[in-house]
Amino acid sequence: SSYPEVRIQRLPVEQLVFEAAQHLRADELVAFPTETVYGLGASAVSSKALLRVFAAKKRPLDNPLIAHVSSLTQLEQLTTHVPSLAQQLMDAFWPGPLSILLPARRDLPKELTAGLPTVAVRMPRHPLTLALIEEVGMPLAGPSANRSGRPSPTKAQHVLEDLAGEIAGVVDGGTCSVGIESTVIEIMDGRIVILRPGDITSADLKSFGVPVVYDQHLVEPQEEAAVPRSPGQKYRHYAPRGEMRVLIGETAACRKYVREAIGLAHNQGKRVAVLGFESSIGEGADFFLDLGNSSQTIAAHLYEALRACDEAAIDLIFVRGYEPSESHFALMNRLFKASGGAFIDLR
Ligand code: TXA
Ligand code: MG
Repeated sequence: SSYPEVRIQRLPVEQLVFEAAQHLRADELVAFPTETVYGLGASAVSSKALLRVFAAKKRPLDNPLIAHVSSLTQLEQLTTHVPSLAQQLMDAFWPGPLSILLPARRDLPKELTAGLPTVAVRMPRHPLTLALIEEVGMPLAGPSANRSGRPSPTKAQHVLEDLAGEIAGVVDGGTCSVGIESTVIEIMDGRIVILRPGDITSADLKSFGVPVVYDQHLVEPQEEAAVPRSPGQKYRHYAPRGEMRVLIGETAACRKYVREAIGLAHNQGKRVAVLGFESSIGEGADFFLDLGNSSQTIAAHLYEALRACDEAAIDLIFVRGYEPSESHFALMNRLFKASGGAFIDLR
């Protein structure tokens, strides 16, 4: 609101990083690219900057942020202790889409951790952002750079759609390759607990000699029992304006289901989108994207596709789903949230 003009900075790299770092050191917000989604960058050690993040996103204050580092040395600014298993995971997966909860330093702003005893940290895999964090000289908080409740941004343009007027700028690093947010884990009682599934799967985490388990809320997301360990899990996310249904089954069964559903919807004057299937299943739909037709490519393009459905005023969205095995778990988690659990099993 305090910024009259937002630019996608198309300066030479050194100048771009230098300018963006100046804004961040002045407690302003600059969105940055990562391999997962764009982050809304702010100094992780400044309450003033962090409060601006919550205001810009309209994010509830009890949802803690991930601190992004460019070197292991910077961890000293965030944590009192790096357990040896955490160190092994960092060596194996950083820079990359793995966020790890570590014991938080007492002097961290409470806005970063939401007052929890832990701080989530990760080293993102994008050269511009690593250079930016290095230039700023301190860790950057980086929640997804969308307004709360909108799909996470995977292009600089998406950031501007949601946050123009609220931020000093966006570092345009092109399209994010993974397309969904990082895996968030906690090391507890000698086990790796997955709090949010992502591109680094439970299978990837299994070679470290300790059990890997999903947090209870991922396995029974319909249960509203205890307080989730990861506050972000209690909020409804990424919901498109249209109703969304996730179809799991063979091509022939999906084709038959979608054809009938399109007929019914059109009788009611509804506009239909078909996402993630081969083109024959999209016949007759008002909007069709095949999204590459694999679990990983659907994940990579899902959020952009949901934004496009909103723009095309789609009322009903059919998306291809998979059985929630290890390699498909992260995609199915995002589809569960976006659809409000509307899975249709045609097997
Ligand atoms: O891929 C990503 O992680 C992206 C990019 C920009 O790096 N960032 C991102 O941040 O997704 P955000 O703020 O949208 O999601 C952070 C998640 C939330 O679900 C939050 O509840 C959880 O991490 N989290 C952060 N700190 C935590 C903590 N101390 N304990 C439990 N959960 C925590
Ligand atoms: Mg988010």
